[in-house]
Amino acid sequence: MSSGGVICVFMDSLVTIDDASLSRFVRNILQAAGVPPRRAELVSDSLVSASLRGVDSHGVHLLPHYMSQIRKGNIDVGTDGRIISESGSCLLYDGEHGFGQCVSAVCCGHAARLARGHGTGMVVARNSNHFGAAAFWAQRISAEGMIGIVMCNASPSVPPWQGRDGRIGTNPLCVSVPSTDTGGWLLDMATTTVALNRIVKAAANGEPCVPAGWATDSDGVPTTDTQVALRGLLMPLGGYKGSGLGLMIEVLCAVLSGGAMSTEVGGLHNLERSMNTSQMFLAIDVTRFVSAQEFQSRMERLIRTVKSARPAPGYNEVLVAGDPEWRSEASRRANGIPIDGALRERLRVLACDSGVEIPDSLRRHP
Ligand SMILES: NC(=O)c1ccc[n+]([C@@H]2O[C@H](COP(=O)([O-])OP(=O)(O)OC[C@H]3O[C@@H](n4cnc5c(N)ncnc54)[C@H](O)[C@@H]3O)[C@@H](O)[C@H]2O)c1
Repeated sequence: MSSGGVICVFMDSLVTIDDASLSRFVRNILQAAGVPPRRAELVSDSLVSASLRGVDSHGVHLLPHYMSQIRKGNIDVGTDGRIISESGSCLLYDGEHGFGQCVSAVCCGHAARLARGHGTGMVVARNSNHFGAAAFWAQRISAEGMIGIVMCNASPSVPPWQGRDGRIGTNPLCVSVPSTDTGGWLLDMATTTVALNRIVKAAANGEPCVPAGWATDSDGVPTTDTQVALRGLLMPLGGYKGSGLGLMIEVLCAVLSGGAMSTEVGGLHNLERSMNTSQMFLAIDVTRFVSAQEFQSRMERLIRTVKSARPAPGYNEVLVAGDPEWRSEASRRANGIPIDGALRERLRVLACDSGVEIPDSLRRHP
């Protein structure tokens, strides 16, 4: 099979690729679709960062979906959005259906700027698109020495507690603190048991079952069948509490921004309409409360204290949020990012369609 002069070879085994080569490949695919170089680099950085951190559901796995959204005209690759209003430490932004990553980068910059002047800065954006893993954006804010809190709404794939129809998204919540010597606490989680893309990825990999507690069928009956789960609904995290958190995020993102809410929100897997996602970026300047050094030493003490708990039976250590991803990042930077057969085939098709050369490591058998 070949296209655009590129020789395409079908392979179905797991391979690894270094992050620089993968970034280059993703950038090239995006640029071939007309995405300007700076924007292509930003989107690529966010996807490869998630792949490095082991958050595969929100890594390069998303590229084929982004490409479908671009082709359908749901993502406007020519805009970063615009400010609607600014008042004190609050800023309202219109993403104008640009890449979620491009909108988020601008919004994070404004949130940090406002926090430098006011102690806190809060930006809410409407008419945005999928921004990948929330951690990439909260980390941008915490890299400025501030606490970064980022949330977004998503397609209504989650029934409210005691309901059987999707009304809330997987609405992620991320909190990142200025990094500490202990690796940094970084909480990044969907408000469902798992993010939707974990099920999409399980299906793409041909896994017949997902764990109990992840999903229900379309009638609200719990299921472990991957295909049924794919057509069904996601379970809110911890029952009515997750349902409440998801709704809180809808309030902070969509009610405040004037953006699409609940069933008005499109989805990455729905090409029939724009996503119309709303996002919230909050920056808190810790030095308005304690010195940067004191914040750091108190964070380290807190994490040490938490980790001093004896491990429960079946475990040999206590972790805090962020630990699994830091470890994955260190390992994948050294040993490469694993790309499974299903993803490799999808990347191969994208490369063929775009006339982009496939990196050697995605061609070779291990
Ligand atoms: N853009 C969107 O629309 C959207 C929607 C939903 C989720 N997401 C993203 O999906 C990604 C995955 O979300 P998820 O909920 O499946 O993540 P997850 O369940 O893998 O991890 C959630 C959090 O738990 C922490 N954690 C994991 N194991 C731990 C342990 N043993 N001890 C202590 N902490 C531990 C992780 O560090 C992480 O901070 C996130 O990056 C999120 O931003 C994006």
